[in-house]
Amino acid sequence: MMKFSLLLAVFCSPVFTEQWKASLVNSLDALVTSCVVLPCTFTQPKDNLPTSRLRGIWHLKTGKDQIVYQEDMTRILENFRGRTKLLGQLGQKNCSLEMTDIKDHDNGPFCFRIELVENANPTVNKFSFVEDCVSLKMLPEPPKPVLITTKTATEGHPYTITCSVIHTCPSHVPTLLWNRKDPASIEIHREINSGIWEAQSILTFTAGEKDDHTDVTCTAQFYGKKTSSAKITLYVKRTESYNHIIIPCAVGIGTAVIFTIFCILMVKKYKNRIVELQNQEGSMWNRLSRISRRGRT
Ligand SMILES: *[C@@H]1O[C@H](CO)[C@@H](O)[C@H](O)[C@H]1NC(C)=O
Repeated sequence: MMKFSLLLAVFCSPVFTEQWKASLVNSLDALVTSCVVLPCTFTQPKDNLPTSRLRGIWHLKTGKDQIVYQEDMTRILENFRGRTKLLGQLGQKNCSLEMTDIKDHDNGPFCFRIELVENANPTVNKFSFVEDCVSLKMLPEPPKPVLITTKTATEGHPYTITCSVIHTCPSHVPTLLWNRKDPASIEIHREINSGIWEAQSILTFTAGEKDDHTDVTCTAQFYGKKTSSAKITLYVKRTESYNHIIIPCAVGIGTAVIFTIFCILMVKKYKNRIVELQNQEGSMWNRLSRISRRGRT
C-alpha cells in the first residue's frame, strides 16, 4: 500500500510541477535613468486561457501588497506608478515587464504573481510564484560600445567597422551613431542571453587617402539620454604603385632602342665612307703607280 502510494506520487508529481510556474532570470543589469525589460514566461495547467481571464501582478519580494505593476494603477506603489508596463501578452504565457526611468534604488527583487479570474464568479483564484523573483544590478554609467575591424584599410577598397553595445531594454533599443557621413549603416539587434541584448551597427565605406590618421567614433545613445562612445584611429595603406619600376625600365629600353638605331645608321654611314675611302685610295695608288712607272721609263 505504502509502495503503491509512493509510486502514485512519483507518477503524479510531474503533473503538479507542470502546473502554474513562472520562469524569470535571477538577475539583470539596469542602467539608471534608462529602462529595462524583465523577461518572464509561465506555464499553466489549462491550455490557452484568454488574457481577459488572467491578471498579472508584479510586486516587491518584501510584500505581496507592495505592487509594482497591476492593471489597476491606483494599487501600484507611488514610486513605480506610471513607470511599469506589462509588455507580454498573458494569453501567450508571456509576463515580461518593462520599467522605465530607472532610479538607483529600483533594485528589487521583483516577483511575478498571476490571478485567474473566474468568469461567473467575481471571487478570484490566486496563484503566486514568489519563488521566482528577479533582482536588478544598477549601472550608474552605460557600458562602452566595442569596435571591431577585420583587416587594415587599403586606399580605394571597402572597409568595414562594427560597433556593438550590450543593453537590457529591447523595447527602447539604444541608437548607435557614427561621426562619419557615409551612406546608411546596417543595424542588427539580437538577444545574446535571456534578457541581455546586443545592438550592432555595421559601417562600410571606401577608404580614401584623406581618411588616413583620422578617428572613427561610435556613440551609443541609450533611452533616457545617457551616452557612451568608443573610437579607433584609421591607418590607410596606400595602393601599390609600380611607377618606380616602370619608368626607369621604359627609359632604359627607349635609350637602348635609340642607341641601337644610332649604331646601325653609323655603321651604314661608316661602311659607305670606307668603301669611298678604299675607292679613293685605289685611284690614288693607281695614279701613283702610274706616275712612278712613267718616271722609270
Ligand atoms: C514576451 O514579450 C516580449 C515583449 O513583447 C517579447 O520581446 C518576448 O520575445 C516575448 N517572449 C516570448 C518567449 O515570447
